[in-house]
Amino acid sequence: MDLLELISAARDVATNAYSPYSNFRVGAALLTKSGKVYSGCNVENASYGLANCAERTAVFKAISEGERAFELMAIVSTGGVYPCGACRQVLNEFSPELKIVLGDLEGNLTGETSLVDLLPNAFGPGFKKD
Ligand code: THU
Repeated sequence: MDLLELISAARDVATNAYSPYSNFRVGAALLTKSGKVYSGCNVENASYGLANCAERTAVFKAISEGERAFELMAIVSTGGVYPCGACRQVLNEFSPELKIVLGDLEGNLTGETSLVDLLPNAFGPGFKKD
C-alpha cells in the first residue's frame, strides 16, 4: 500500500459521507504498522452536534479491530483541509508520530504533515495518573 493508494482509498470512502447538513465530504484512510487499512467517512445527524468526523470513524474502526499502532493517515475532503482539533487529539492517543497526507476530492495531493506538527506539546496517555 503506497501513499497514492491510501489517498485513493480515502477518496473512495468520501463518497459514502453522510453529510446532508454541511454538504462537506471527508474520507480518511489509516494505514496500520501491520500493513492494514481502515477507512472512514464523516457521519452527520439531524441533531447537529452528534456529527462524527471521517478521521475518528477510521480510527475507531481500527481500534475496534484490535489495531493500535498507525503509520500514515490520508485525509481527502472538499478543498483538502487539515483535521480538526478533536481528531488530532484522538489520533495522538495512539500514534503521536503519525504522518498525515491531505488531498482534495479531485484527486490532488494538497499537503503533507505530521501529528507532531499539528498538535505540538500534546497532552497524551503518558500524563495519566493511575
Ligand atoms: N469533518 C471531518 O470529517 N473531518 C475534519 O477534520 C473536519 C470536519 C466533518 C464534520 C462534519 O460532518 C463536516 O465535516 C463539517 O464540519
